[in-house]
Amino acid sequence: MLSSSQFKILAITILISASSCKGKKKEYHNLIHKIEAQSIQYDRDSIQNHNLFDMNELVEIDENDIHFYIEKRKTNIKSYACNECHNKPVGQLQKEGLGKKAHWDITINHADTKTMACLSCHNSQDMNNLQSITGDPIDFNYSYKLCSQCHHSQVKDWIGGAHGKNISGWKSERVSKLCVECHNPHAPQIAKRWPSRYNSTMVDERK
Ligand code: HEC
Ligand code: HEC
Ligand code: HEC
Ligand code: HEC
Repeated sequence: MLSSSQFKILAITILISASSCKGKKKEYHNLIHKIEAQSIQYDRDSIQNHNLFDMNELVEIDENDIHFYIEKRKTNIKSYACNECHNKPVGQLQKEGLGKKAHWDITINHADTKTMACLSCHNSQDMNNLQSITGDPIDFNYSYKLCSQCHHSQVKDWIGGAHGKNISGWKSERVSKLCVECHNPHAPQIAKRWPSRYNSTMVDERK
């Protein structure tokens, strides 16, 4: 236990040592204080979050307690809203058509034709949404849920941040590219790329 006089001495010592730092701008207790006092403060998160992405254009993903964002997709789909034309059954639209196919530029090269047809992913009764194998609607903004039915491991990697691409900084909230921003759902293969130049050194080394 401290006696009252010992306590006074201790209190005075603390006061003196606390006030000695104040008021003197150019004297620092140690190097760390000097560096902290002289460095320029800048907030990296504020740059990342507020300037790069408009929060209204983002969709929040919350899977297995992992939170991140993707950009809204529907605004980037040319022929959305689909029900501007798809207000009656596809069969009727086909009959009324003038022989030229509406979506002539879309052909499927994804799995085999027994697995995949237009209506494996689209619902002729509700064209504004995608559909799961069991017929449940899937919003175009969340199309990874469609892919997840058959490519579960890639989707798991993507949720963890290992597959795909992070388009924000590492320190701030993650914004990821959605599957369909890299893989065309109708023909998802990524084209092979060749080196931009013929590597003659490697050919020489092999001789
Ligand atoms: C400008 C009108 C128009 C818009 C917009 C439109 N479609 Fe169509 N779509 C048609 C017509 C007409 C047909 C009938 C068949 C044909 O001509 O190929 C059709 C047929 C289809 C078929 C069936 C194809 C087949 O061969 O069985 C699918 C699937 C489809 N549309 C999906 C969509 C989706 C998804 C959207 C929105 C992202 C969309 N369409 C937007 C006009 C349209
Ligand atoms: C593997 C699932 C799948 C199959 C099979 C499929 N689609 Fe799609 N389709 C999608 C997804 C996912 C999108 C949304 C792509 C995006 O977000 O850019 C889409 C988008 C579309 C669009 C809008 C494209 C645009 O940019 O305007 C049309 C039209 C369409 N599909 C028609 C068809 C037709 C016709 C077929 C059959 C020939 C077909 N789809 C087969 C998954 C599929
Ligand atoms: C109904 C099941 C099913 C759905 C839904 C599905 N796929 Fe596939 N996908 C397949 C099958 C089957 C293959 C071919 C087998 C393989 O190569 O693994 C394939 C192949 C692929 C490949 C590899 C292509 C290659 O040869 O390099 C990619 C990439 C791909 N799919 C992406 C997607 C994306 C993105 C979606 C969602 C928009 C999707 N898939 C939805 C079944 C599916
Ligand atoms: C930033 C672009 C990008 C995004 C986003 C992306 N992928 Fe991929 N994906 C690739 C590349 C690159 C490959 C390798 C292609 C190759 O080796 O030919 C690949 C390969 C694949 C394959 C083939 C098998 C494998 O693992 O090599 C599948 C299936 C696939 N992706 C599905 C998906 C799904 C599902 C999503 C969304 C959850 C997704 N991808 C998101 C770029 C992307």
